[in-house]
Amino acid sequence: MKRILSGINPSGSGMLHIGNYLGAVRQFKMLAKEHECFLFIADLHALTTVQDRKLLQKNVEELILNELALLGDLTNITFFRQSDVPMHAELQSILNNVTPLGLIKRAHAYKDKLQKQLSEDEVNMGLFSYPVLMAADILIYKPDLVPVGRDQKQHVEIARDIAERFNKTFKKKIFPLPDAFIPAEVAVVLGTDGKRKMSKSLGNIISIFDDEEIIKKQVMSTYTDPTRIHADSPGHIEGNMVFAYLDFFGEKEEVVKMKSLYKEGKVADVEVKNYLFESIMKYFESARERYKELKSNPEKVKEILQKGEERAKKVASQTMGEIREVIGLTNRYSFFRY
Ligand code: TRP
Repeated sequence: MKRILSGINPSGSGMLHIGNYLGAVRQFKMLAKEHECFLFIADLHALTTVQDRKLLQKNVEELILNELALLGDLTNITFFRQSDVPMHAELQSILNNVTPLGLIKRAHAYKDKLQKQLSEDEVNMGLFSYPVLMAADILIYKPDLVPVGRDQKQHVEIARDIAERFNKTFKKKIFPLPDAFIPAEVAVVLGTDGKRKMSKSLGNIISIFDDEEIIKKQVMSTYTDPTRIHADSPGHIEGNMVFAYLDFFGEKEEVVKMKSLYKEGKVADVEVKNYLFESIMKYFESARERYKELKSNPEKVKEILQKGEERAKKVASQTMGEIREVIGLTNRYSFFRY
């Protein structure tokens, strides 16, 4: 069994939409069927931008509920909060010393900020050293694969680079080099405007856990075929977002049938949209139930997080032991031996 690790930054509202599901959660669920997985909420990373305790807590809680509801079965998955496992920050502090400044200066997140006319004084060190914390997150669990979006590929490469430098400096192969795993279909999932990536701030999302009426509205405003003026004129499937989503959520045979009717001008947009709405509600029915259940049962959520924390700490402290040994930070009498 390979080991998989990924983190999710709770800098946003934590309310996931079908784009998040298709782009990340779905692949993770698939990987979890046959691999040992670690998945955490990267709350320390969120601090680089969210510096308001209420907002951070809200984002984190919402994200936890969303993820747990969508994941469902947690066999093979260790689910936890980054800040519950202090070894991440500890390792970051150690990795800082084998990380060249130039390597981090070349990282996109930081470079982009400078390009947006922000001066160095307006960028905090948390953002600057984001890739080093992320390297620590990854390396401490010695994973084989790190599933991420395209925008995070560079960070995984930096983690590999740091791992190599550490191994070389201390002449021991403590860290195996992890590979980024970028699911191929991610780029295809556009927003309901059919133009840009699905994103809450662009208002082109279809929600998963909102009220039915909201989801219905989102589905009804989805971009179809602008050249089709009457319901009985032939329609186009390519670039038609309703069919793009139906490919994932509809029943295969029904979708094939609808596509050919659509091309012949024998089915109206509104009928296809109604079918998409029903399909989405059906697809996420059990996740929506789990969401409600978890929300009204905080003890259960706490229990899951505690179990995750315990398991993650066990692996992380094992690695930290090896690291302390190889760098010479062992103190046989320390209270801080994990
Ligand atoms: N930086 C990632 C993102 O914004 C989140 C993240 C933090 C992460 N630590 C990680 C992803 C470790 C993979 C592995 O999406």
